[in-house]
Amino acid sequence: MSERTFVIIKPDAVRRGLAGAVLSRYEAKGLRIVALDQRVVDAELADQHYAEHREQPWYPPLRDFITSGPLIALVLEGDGAIDAVRTLNGATDGRRAAPGSVRGDYSLSNRENLVHASDSPESSAREIALWFPGLT
Ligand code: CDP
Ligand code: MG
Repeated sequence: MSERTFVIIKPDAVRRGLAGAVLSRYEAKGLRIVALDQRVVDAELADQHYAEHREQPWYPPLRDFITSGPLIALVLEGDGAIDAVRTLNGATDGRRAAPGSVRGDYSLSNRENLVHASDSPESSAREIALWFPGLT
């Protein structure tokens, strides 16, 4: 069943010149780009996006990181897109993520791990509405 997922190519990926390589993996997988926008986000949007993590001791440095420079926000669409993108991205901790995944191939960090993707239909709907309120 076709579904949409919200993805961020995080500031570390943009800084390192890996945005195209990451985007290419999603396209090659067969996912369709519904929306794509490079932007710098403020602390308020970071707090809303990461609402579930705001009480974590590691949230302040995460907020500093996600607001540290341009990121690319996108909406991808395809059959089982939510799980498919989470699998392509790999485990959260780049040091342990499987080779072949985005994080496994390009990240050696538990924070600067290149990508975000929605983890459920509920978070996908919430995140798309937050980042792309005009999208139908
Ligand atoms: O992104 P994902 O859903 O895989 O992981 P999460 O547990 O929802 O954490 C969200 C983000 O917080 C991660 O992608 C990391 O960038 C960051 N994080 C961190 O900075 N320090 C941690 N100890 C855990 C996660
Ligand atoms: Mg998460």
